Amino acid sequence: MNTRFTLFEIYQEKIKNHKIAAVTCYDYTTAKLIAQTPIQMVLVGDSAAQLVLGHDSTLPATMDFMVTITAAVRRGAPNVCLVADMPFLSYQTGLSEAVKNAGRFAAEAGVQMIKIEAASAHLNVIKAVSDAGMAVMAHIGMLPQTIGKIGKLKAEGTTAEMAAQLIDLSKQMIQAGASSLLLEGIAAEVAQIITQNTEVPVISCGSGPYCDGQILVAPDVLGLTSGPKPKFAKSFADLSNATIEALKAYALAVSNGSFPDYDHCYHIKNGELEKLQKMLKE
Ligand code: KIV
Repeated sequence: MNTRFTLFEIYQEKIKNHKIAAVTCYDYTTAKLIAQTPIQMVLVGDSAAQLVLGHDSTLPATMDFMVTITAAVRRGAPNVCLVADMPFLSYQTGLSEAVKNAGRFAAEAGVQMIKIEAASAHLNVIKAVSDAGMAVMAHIGMLPQTIGKIGKLKAEGTTAEMAAQLIDLSKQMIQAGASSLLLEGIAAEVAQIITQNTEVPVISCGSGPYCDGQILVAPDVLGLTSGPKPKFAKSFADLSNATIEALKAYALAVSNGSFPDYDHCYHIKNGELEKLQKMLKE
């Protein structure tokens, strides 16, 4: 799988009615595994602040941290359509700051698209980054970066009025220049209406089956996370238990001396040990 999924191929998937499978990933080793699968799109999400750094929200992710891990994911998965997440305060403080930060992901990490959590107040940011020549994925619906203001994330588009506002917002995002939409936590019926009325690819994060593609965070897909998960998260393996069992087996082998064995050590060359022992006696 050597060819890279560009935005062109992602658009083709929508036209051909092929679903787009996307995951959030934060590191080179996992990215290398993803690169061997049919997954077309990888997002380096600011959820790294929670799943890599152990914070209780996405807010502590910084630009330098995000650029570093995004470049690592690109090295691991050169073939995927790579999307980077603009972290908190990387685009809310002014348009030139937003364009400069978005440009870092393109120039330093080789991404094809920049994701921005966007309310109507950020339409000018979407336009500025898009006008600067970068593809933007407008993330609407549940916006984890607003957790400090709203206190709790809840499903979006669950009343006719909320749904109409979201449908209108999705149109404004496209008019501002968004090349793709990410719908998080939006009622499936509303996500379907948005997808059917949008020419750009629409990715669902917990917004039901009718979008052009789906995204989940890789640690959830792999069953590596524990504790409460959003309703929409699903594990397709149980690597937590497999990991714990492997680590237990390692600890046991260290404690009973069966690891390392002869094959897992470097050895002095033939005849050199005798020579050394003689030298040590002199
Ligand atoms: O940060 C992230 O991983 C995300 C996805 C869950 C969409 O924004």
